[in-house]
Amino acid sequence: MGHYVVRPGPRLEGSVPIGGAKNSVLKLMAATLLAEGTHRLRNVPHIADVEIMCDLLVSMGVDVKRDPDGAGLSITRFSDVTPEAPYELVERMRASIVVLGPLLGAFGQARVSMPGGDDFGSRPIDLHLQGLEALGAEFSFAHGTIEARAAELLGTRVLLEFPSVGATENLLMAAVLAKGTTVIDNAAREPEIADLAAFLNRMGARVVGAGTSTIEVEGVHELSPVEHEVIPDRVEAATFLAAVGIAGGEILLEGARSDHMDMLLQKLGEMGLRTSPTGSGLWASSSGRLSSVDVSTLPYPGVATDYKPVLVAMLSLADGVGIVTENLFADRFRYVAELVRMGADIRIQGHHAVVRGVERLSGAPVKAPDIRAGAALVLAGLGAEGETVVTDSEHVERGYEDFAGKLRSIGADVTLSRTPA
Ligand code: EPU
Repeated sequence: MGHYVVRPGPRLEGSVPIGGAKNSVLKLMAATLLAEGTHRLRNVPHIADVEIMCDLLVSMGVDVKRDPDGAGLSITRFSDVTPEAPYELVERMRASIVVLGPLLGAFGQARVSMPGGDDFGSRPIDLHLQGLEALGAEFSFAHGTIEARAAELLGTRVLLEFPSVGATENLLMAAVLAKGTTVIDNAAREPEIADLAAFLNRMGARVVGAGTSTIEVEGVHELSPVEHEVIPDRVEAATFLAAVGIAGGEILLEGARSDHMDMLLQKLGEMGLRTSPTGSGLWASSSGRLSSVDVSTLPYPGVATDYKPVLVAMLSLADGVGIVTENLFADRFRYVAELVRMGADIRIQGHHAVVRGVERLSGAPVKAPDIRAGAALVLAGLGAEGETVVTDSEHVERGYEDFAGKLRSIGADVTLSRTPA
């Protein structure tokens, strides 16, 4: 437990390294279950969710070690694993459900605790289960646990009702060792899916079309361990872009990939933030007050729902009125009440937020409700008079490595304190 103490400071200046993508590395770690031997992942961020996925793999009998330089993980999967994801771990991290596909693919069985709802509301997994059933898996449910079995997985066509990231990943990881060809239609197109497919292909899988709406997987008999570098985290990059939008200044996001964030960069450009890809990352600069825009969240390549809290923080201080429409997670506006405590003028109507920009927010004690919203509250503090204290930092630490330290390195006045607030 900790809290961030934030004070408005000077314009931001300098460069900040963007770490490996949380939402990629967790799935790559799950994919190591598909092949016996030692896998190496590079550019693995030091964040709590990675630690939880390490604990989950270790609980299954997999050996996980941080490389001596701290930048990567060596993951050794032995011939035997306990194909089980217990409640204590799934409850700590919903994304644990992505072990279901690889366990079924590699071992034909899995016991996975049902993930519950979270701060975004109910989070169903029906699409994961329907897709895996189409491949031949059978499920039974008792005492909060899914028992999954598949004597043999057989390739087939699966049409996803919605391009769910997690369902696409579970299906992809189950299909690589299935017999025959699987086609996933209306697949999610996020860069993290393409990264997973690149990893699987390097292991010997035959996946084409990842990153588009149709993914075709020709099953193979066996996969082998390889080394792979995780793509940069586009949500972390977006968070630092929002920081410079709020505080002003000029920064370089080392390693960030602008081609993974096209739609967001277009929106931020409309708001008045200037960005330009460089040989080593993404340059961004902002001077003066930003202008309001309307934004709708959509599956990739649309503006990601994960960017929304930091966009709302920016709009809270922008000139004009912006309407933000959430199309993925109906309840993902819970942090708005905290921004309002800081003087933001935001009204929620169903899945829309009407954000009327104010000149200055006012520092206040607020509570981080989830990873992205917590980061957004810290950023709001950069544009607030006086001191903002964001409690429950553990949410932010799930997805951001040394958030306060990285912000400080570009001139922001942010500290993480472990003493009671
Ligand atoms: N959905 C269903 N049924 C399913 C699966 C999803 O109805 O079986 C619905 C969800 O309720 C939601 C929509 O489909 O309305 C999208 O969910 P999706 O499955 O795409 O999301 P996810 O895989 O659970 C990942 C990220 C989230 C990110 C979403 C959307 C990880 C670990 N999580 O979740 O990231 O918001 O995709 O892009 O990859 C975060 O990093 O803070 C985070 C929450």
